[in-house]
Amino acid sequence: MQFSELAATRRSVRRYEERDVTDEQIHTLLEVARWAPSAGNMQPWHFYVVRDAALRAKICACQQHPAKWITYAPVIIVVGVEARITAAQYGDRGGDLYCLQDTAAAVQNILLCAHDSGLASCWVGAFREDACAQALGLTADIRPVAILPIGYAAQQPDKAPERRPVEEITTFL
Ligand SMILES: Cc1cc2nc3c(=O)[nH]c(=O)nc-3n(C[C@H](O)[C@H](O)[C@H](O)COP(=O)(O)O)c2cc1C
Repeated sequence: MQFSELAATRRSVRRYEERDVTDEQIHTLLEVARWAPSAGNMQPWHFYVVRDAALRAKICACQQHPAKWITYAPVIIVVGVEARITAAQYGDRGGDLYCLQDTAAAVQNILLCAHDSGLASCWVGAFREDACAQALGLTADIRPVAILPIGYAAQQPDKAPERRPVEEITTFL
C-alpha cells in the first residue's frame, strides 16, 4: 500500500476479534515506535505491554468514561513518558512540549504499522493518569500519556470521519 493510502485508511477501531496477537507482531510495533523522531534524540518514552486480562480491566477502568471495548483487545500498549529526560536537556520546553510530541510521533508510528500489519488500534487519551500509573505500578517519574488497545478489527468503521479540507487548514505565505 502506498503511504498516502495507508495514512488515509487507518481508522480508530473500537471492536476487536478474540483472535490473539503474537509477541512478534507486538515487537514489530515497538520496533517502529523507537524509530520515531525525538527532540535531541532523547527518547523519553517507555512502552508497557499488557496482556494480563485483570490488568487490562484495570486500565479500562481508568478511562474517564470507562468503555469496555478496550478490554476486548488481547494486548494494550500504554505509552509513558519520562519528562525529566528531555527537560534535563531543554528545560521547560523540553519537559512540557517536546517529550509529549516525541510520544505522539511514536504513537502514530505504532498506529500506522498496526494498520499496515492488518491489526487495528485506537488512540485513547481520555483517562485518569494517576489511576493508570497506579494500575501499572509506575514510579512518579513516568507519566502515562496514551492507551493503545491492539487487536484484529471485528468491524471496520462504516466510513472515515470527515477531515477539514487542506485549503481551510493551510495558509501559503
Ligand atoms: C490525542 C488523542 C486522544 C484520543 N482519545 C480518544 C479516547 O479517549 N477515546 C476514543 O475512543 N478515541 C480517542 N481518540 C481517537 C479519535 O476519536 C479519532 O482519532 C478521531 O475521531 C478520528 O477518527 P480516525 O482515527 O478513525 O481517523 C483520540 C485521538 C487522539 C489523537
